[in-house]
Amino acid sequence: MDEKKKQVKLLRKELEMHNYQYYVLDNPFISDDEFDSLYQKLIQLELDAPSLVDKYSPTQRVGGEPLAAFTSVDHLSPMLSLGNVFNSEQFINFHKRAKQTINTSSIDFFGEPKLDGLAISLVYEDGSLVRAVTRGNGKRGEDVTHNARTIKSIPLTLTSLAPPTLLEVRGEIYIEKAQFDRLNQRQKAENKKTFVNSRNAAAGALRQLDPKVAASRPLTICCYGIARIENHASPVTQEDSLRLLKSFGFRVSEDTVLLKNENECILYFEELAAKRQSLTYDIDGVVFKVNQISNQQLMGAVAKAPRWAVAFKFPAEEAITLIRAIDIQVGRTGALTPVARLEPIFVGGATVTNATLHNFEELARKDIRVGDSVVVRRAGDVIPEVVKVLFELRPPEAVRYEVPNELPDIAIEQLIKKVIHFVSKKALDIDGLGDKLVAQLVKQKHVVGFSDLFNLKKECLLLLDRLGPKSADKILLAIATSKHTTFRRLIYGMGILGVGEETAARLADSFDSLEKIKSGTIEEFEKIPDIGTVVSRSIFDWFSKDGNIEELDNLLTAGLVIENSYNGQKTIDFVCVVTGSFDSMKRSEIVRNLNEIGIRTANAVSKSVDFLVCGDSPGSKLEKANELGIKIVYQDELMGLLDKKAIGEKSIKAFLEGK
Ligand code: IVH
Repeated sequence: MDEKKKQVKLLRKELEMHNYQYYVLDNPFISDDEFDSLYQKLIQLELDAPSLVDKYSPTQRVGGEPLAAFTSVDHLSPMLSLGNVFNSEQFINFHKRAKQTINTSSIDFFGEPKLDGLAISLVYEDGSLVRAVTRGNGKRGEDVTHNARTIKSIPLTLTSLAPPTLLEVRGEIYIEKAQFDRLNQRQKAENKKTFVNSRNAAAGALRQLDPKVAASRPLTICCYGIARIENHASPVTQEDSLRLLKSFGFRVSEDTVLLKNENECILYFEELAAKRQSLTYDIDGVVFKVNQISNQQLMGAVAKAPRWAVAFKFPAEEAITLIRAIDIQVGRTGALTPVARLEPIFVGGATVTNATLHNFEELARKDIRVGDSVVVRRAGDVIPEVVKVLFELRPPEAVRYEVPNELPDIAIEQLIKKVIHFVSKKALDIDGLGDKLVAQLVKQKHVVGFSDLFNLKKECLLLLDRLGPKSADKILLAIATSKHTTFRRLIYGMGILGVGEETAARLADSFDSLEKIKSGTIEEFEKIPDIGTVVSRSIFDWFSKDGNIEELDNLLTAGLVIENSYNGQKTIDFVCVVTGSFDSMKRSEIVRNLNEIGIRTANAVSKSVDFLVCGDSPGSKLEKANELGIKIVYQDELMGLLDKKAIGEKSIKAFLEGK
């Protein structure tokens, strides 16, 4: 090997070793100055011989160009969440169930701190970091490799002579408490906004397109699992996994323990709870994992959480403060929610000024009044809530809250929000009917219910501010087009509390007609994956209200046509990228059409993309797709694909394979 090459290689190894000592083990061998001079030496060598630079050099951790957009990618295996328990009794039940499932009288658990940060998946191929992906929805997350590379405790290459050909590591990205304080001091000194808590600061940094932001925040990682390992001995226990991760150069928690029975588990929980304040990182509980991996496999998972692990959470933090006012808020889909305006109070890691009162029944039940002293609770990401009133502190002049009889402004605002939601992209997608126009239509009483949209006259549109005849025609055409919609879009557009895009899709796929869904029971809704009791009840309640049924009938009378052509194809799992311009359709229309037959669209071309839809002047995406050998579908072929709507997954596959 060439002398220079050897020297560069050695220096890199040395620097990575010092990085490891400093950032992973917190035990530096050399001073910062000494490190710096080694680092400068490597930079100089690489400047002299640029051909020796590759992306795994420690000099290349920062310096990448900002991305234009995020790419979402599929996880190799789903990133699950954890079931929670909140007290010893619930934990003991969990423990008992675990023993029953694997039919044994005793079971080893591995206890770990539950770090309060963000989950990440790191993929290494042949020992080199190739991808870092956020949790996202568990199946698919955002590629944040550019940011992860700037985190010094994440090895760019594994310290192993025979690394696995594929390794997927799971861990938590977070900021240590002392570092967080320093970060906020720096923000203050630079007259910048301080961060509410370290979790937000970490999440914000990881979701930046420019890696310089992540590089400037003291992010670190703690790894807690191996999701996949190929061509290497597999760990037999969770304890083994962490040992192996450590030997590869990852940072793992030092506060983990092997626990032989439920009492040891509870003791461990209590110990960590007592130590919580003095730990260098934030935790919100303890995680218990069945230690034996073969037992984990035996137990499997339900819905989104494994049966072999549980989070024993610390109680949410509570504090006492005053109610200054009770206001009514209009939600995204037009629902009314009472909110308490509070005397600001620091609780659960953030200053809280508002708390949800959930709904008017709850408000009445708790008898919360302006002037009351109340207990508020805030846990992690959860919206703060008012737990209870301290009646003994109630001032004599406090009067019972009455829902205002007339809600004229709010009612209008509510209707405006509902209609905006109904016409939005993911709902009926009425192009050109913006928020301001909707507001005018509602305020001028042209639209009192959704169905009025379908009966709008051009004369009426022309009376609106700044709307010319051309735009009016366009809107009318968009309204006419939207009359042919899908069941998924309609259900989403109705704005049922708790029913987002995914839930709407699941509902539509499970109940193939409006008639069936109208007579659906709570139990039937609950059977649908990912729909819990609360949302089931909300769906049921919505379809039980006469006003809503009337609204649906009016829509049908006004000419709404529900197409169900793609029903049953919910499992189609193709991803494509659309690029260039098209003669016959707008790009957004093509995307919409593709989405409707179950094909997802991504912004950037990557290995996980199945095909590229290519119009005129495509640019670099076409090059990239060709480089990766991805199938290209040109304009004239596109119609062929969209026509296959009614046939489904098989035909799309056949089409892509050119049959
Ligand atoms: S294991 C299959 N271990 O908690 C098990 N998660 O509430 C999935 N977390 O998404 C995770 N510390 O972000 C695991 N020691 C630990 C953890 C941990 C923190 C987070 C993680 C996960 C969330 C689930």
